[in-house]
Amino acid sequence: MRFSTRSSSSGGASALILLVSQLTNALNLPAPATLELRQDLSPLAANSTLLTCLQPLGSKVLQRETPSFEKNRWAFDYRYTFKPEVVIMASSTADVQTAVKCAKASKVAVAPRSGGHSYEGYSIGGQDGSVVIDLSAFSSVVVSGKTAKVGAGVRLGPLYYELHKQGGWTINAGTCPSVGIGGHTLGGGFGMLGRKHGLMLDRVIEMELVTANGDLITVSASKNPDLFYALRGAGGGSYGVVTSFTILPIKPAKKVTSFGYSWKYEELAQVLKAYVNYGSWRDMGLGFSVTADGVGLSGLFHGPQAHQAAAMAPFLKLVPKPKEADVRETSNIESVLRFAYMYEDPKDIEALNMKGSFKPGDSHYTKGKSLVFPAALKNSTIALLAKWGNKVPEGSSANYILIDRWGGAIEKVPVGATSFVHRNAHTVIQFVTEWNGNPDALPGVPDCKACLDLMNEVYSDFLADYKVNYGPVAHGYQNYIDSEIPNWQEAYYGSAFSKLKQIKAQADPENVFRFPMSIPLK
Ligand SMILES: Cc1cc2nc3c(=O)[nH]c(=O)nc-3n(C[C@H](O)[C@H](O)[C@H](O)COP(=O)(O)OP(=O)(O)OC[C@H]3O[C@@H](n4cnc5c(N)ncnc54)[C@H](O)[C@@H]3O)c2cc1C
Ligand SMILES: *[C@@H]1O[C@H](CO)[C@@H](O)[C@H](O)[C@H]1NC(C)=O
Ligand SMILES: *[C@@H]1O[C@H](CO)[C@@H](O)[C@H](O)[C@H]1NC(C)=O
Repeated sequence: MRFSTRSSSSGGASALILLVSQLTNALNLPAPATLELRQDLSPLAANSTLLTCLQPLGSKVLQRETPSFEKNRWAFDYRYTFKPEVVIMASSTADVQTAVKCAKASKVAVAPRSGGHSYEGYSIGGQDGSVVIDLSAFSSVVVSGKTAKVGAGVRLGPLYYELHKQGGWTINAGTCPSVGIGGHTLGGGFGMLGRKHGLMLDRVIEMELVTANGDLITVSASKNPDLFYALRGAGGGSYGVVTSFTILPIKPAKKVTSFGYSWKYEELAQVLKAYVNYGSWRDMGLGFSVTADGVGLSGLFHGPQAHQAAAMAPFLKLVPKPKEADVRETSNIESVLRFAYMYEDPKDIEALNMKGSFKPGDSHYTKGKSLVFPAALKNSTIALLAKWGNKVPEGSSANYILIDRWGGAIEKVPVGATSFVHRNAHTVIQFVTEWNGNPDALPGVPDCKACLDLMNEVYSDFLADYKVNYGPVAHGYQNYIDSEIPNWQEAYYGSAFSKLKQIKAQADPENVFRFPMSIPLK
């Protein structure tokens, strides 16, 4: 999902932002009074061996009966109500080491949590009974020379903010400000600078990792290179707890041009065919969004508006006149704010520095599915987008399809250099549905069955088309993780999977770091 759920996002007049604010406004609807929460909140006895071992961590250990446990076990996606054994609010690497050692000794699974945005609640274990290690206290960002050392619990908004403050730097991460750097980077990390600078994981040069034995080690091209390979692509939750990332920040262009255009729904096929056939996107970031209201294109050009206009002109000749257009030349950080969909004032970059911890209002009920297309979209696929893009299931508060152009610097990295195998991705499509977006709601409202049914129907239609036109195995993007994707091992990790298992067997032979889609030992 690309969009923050903040309802204050209507400040921008861009076509896309207008579309999105309609979506996000819908999230403020109160939950129907008839809904009953489905979770069972009665505390279960936690493993006493584990609790005894954790005693040195004192009040950083939230047990099931601790009042703050409830709030701190929530995932970003309120669908999930798994009950961890304990949640550990770690504040030092030593805390993380103690927590991992205790979990290992009592045979309890460990789930690291950075921003908590896992689509399947995997950072609260993806099942009951894990030790959740919360990293939100690992929030420092320090630029020195041409590198930056970043705590593994930093969210993207504050990361952009700090890099900007400390010398005008930026990074090629995603757009949603509440996403955490941890899961995001370890599974890829795609955003508006992706086609120019690659994925977020491509800018990582070193990590500190707490291993399954509780040791703190350095991981880089020269130290523990197998783990360096595995963590960059398949690192979310399977190999240890990353506590810091050393990254190469980016100096953005002095002036950038962000753009948003929108067209009527009936023009969808014409617009998307033009997208596919237009050869001069150069290194700009761009993505389409489809809702029942129409089709939007938003993107970022790394230079002044006059150059953006010249670059876009041939494309705009191929398509009907947009019903709305909003093109702005700004500083790069203002474009980050724009794509974070969270501002009242387009210059209020302080808003990116989201103060405080995870707020319940950031969360909602949602389900996403993705397909990674190794080639330009075929006419048949565009026809399916036109067929499904305006179908709104009953009970959904927002329903949209995102179509992101990948390629560029992402595909220049050899497929074997990291465990991220989707280097040949031309376009990545994500199907998203949301419901019951009451910011004061509690987790555990029953799923919107019509939303999930429609999504399954849509996905299977696209899957059949995919197999005919793009290849026998439908790949997905592991950061849009979906517990129901067919053949997940192949879909997410492809040719890297057997090597990933070998590295797992070496690094974590007792499978301390496990959840329903963790890399297995064999
Ligand atoms: C609203 C929204 C917008 C999004 N926008 C984008 C986008 O623009 N571009 C994009 O590429 N993706 C995007 N995503 C997907 C996002 O990249 C993934 O959901 C990502 O996994 C979130 O990272 P996190 O740290 O917030 O999540 P978490 O739930 O904390 O972690 C995800 C997984 O990684 C593991 N993990 C987390 N931290 C660590 C660590 N320090 N060490 C080891 N394992 C760890 C967890 O155990 C879990 O399995 C978006 C998601 C949402 C919900
Ligand atoms: C609790 O810890 C002990 C090991 O000390 C282990 O044998 C037992 O299976 C654990 N209980 C649970 C519920 O995991
Ligand atoms: C796709 O559609 C376009 C325009 O509708 C058409 O010109 C083109 O020939 C089609 N391509 C194929 C391969 O059928």
